[in-house]
Amino acid sequence: MTQTMKINAEQSGQFSIGGSLKVNRLGFGAMRVTGKGIWGEPEDHDESIRVLRRLPELGVDLIDTADSYGPYVSEDLIAEALSPYTSSVIATKGGLTRHGPDVWLPLGRPEYLRQCVMMSLRRLKLDTLPLWQLHRIDSKVPQDEQFGAMKAMQDEGLITHLGLSEVSVDEIRAAQKVFEVTSVQNLYNLVTRQSEAVLDYCEGQSIGFIPWFPLAAGSLARPGSILDELSKKYEATPSQLALAWVLKRSPVMLPIPGTSSVKHLEENVAAAAIRLSDEDFSALSEQGRAEESKQK
Ligand SMILES: NC(=O)c1ccc[n+]([C@@H]2O[C@H](COP(=O)([O-])OP(=O)(O)OC[C@H]3O[C@@H](n4cnc5c(N)ncnc54)[C@H](OP(=O)(O)O)[C@@H]3O)[C@@H](O)[C@H]2O)c1
Repeated sequence: MTQTMKINAEQSGQFSIGGSLKVNRLGFGAMRVTGKGIWGEPEDHDESIRVLRRLPELGVDLIDTADSYGPYVSEDLIAEALSPYTSSVIATKGGLTRHGPDVWLPLGRPEYLRQCVMMSLRRLKLDTLPLWQLHRIDSKVPQDEQFGAMKAMQDEGLITHLGLSEVSVDEIRAAQKVFEVTSVQNLYNLVTRQSEAVLDYCEGQSIGFIPWFPLAAGSLARPGSILDELSKKYEATPSQLALAWVLKRSPVMLPIPGTSSVKHLEENVAAAAIRLSDEDFSALSEQGRAEESKQK
């Protein structure tokens, strides 16, 4: 299907973050354009730049990043490749410190969150961040201090929309008492479904739900699995079907598959055009649940 159809994220449908910031639902995660362990520069700088520059050509306008990716490398590359932005909406995050490859530690003190935002603005060459998400709530700092700092920065005009990451329904409700929660970013894919209740809550509240690790199709991607069978029927790869499944799961779903290669990017964006039948969607949902239980 990738050869015969025009690839464009527009085909995934649209969602308005906070009711006003309209994006195509299939976005991009810019964590994978950095070095191994999400630490340092990428192995192939030029390919990372090519991936980022291909995004607007493919209609991908929601770009997820974080100050901690690299750290700083992902935001720097986005600015190098795409600033001044024409169609791109850069959604960044803060509140995690980095002490080495694959090491992430929350720090939610208000003065640090402010530094995160001020430095993301500088690196991304923006006056206002369209969407800033608290990467993790820091359990060592009172929740309301973190939410209050976010609201203060929004009131100052440093941030337009605010979001959260890896949160429960109770935590979203607590934040909603302080500011309008417009996005929630939790681990979610066909075989990792512990955030179903959070997703349903987001759908009810028109909050964008950004599933991270959307391609972790796990053993379903193996030859002989249900994805393999459907691959033939839809002339699609297992990864494309995993994305088509999350897109169909909810109208507030905004998947951000990550990759460091233009080839994989094009393959992933082509998933925007796949329409799973209700029957195949239900079969996949059940299979995903069964797979998840096996892994527990
Ligand atoms: N909020 C959070 O706590 C949090 C945590 C993790 C991630 N995120 C965000 O979510 C985004 C997505 O998560 P993720 O990048 O961890 O996982 P993902 O998108 O599910 O998978 C990315 C991995 O799959 C590979 N891949 C991508 N497209 C492929 C394709 N078509 N065929 C085969 N392999 C493919 C990539 O390798 P190649 O580079 O070789 O393509 C990469 O290793 C991140 O980029 C980041 O922006 C957020």
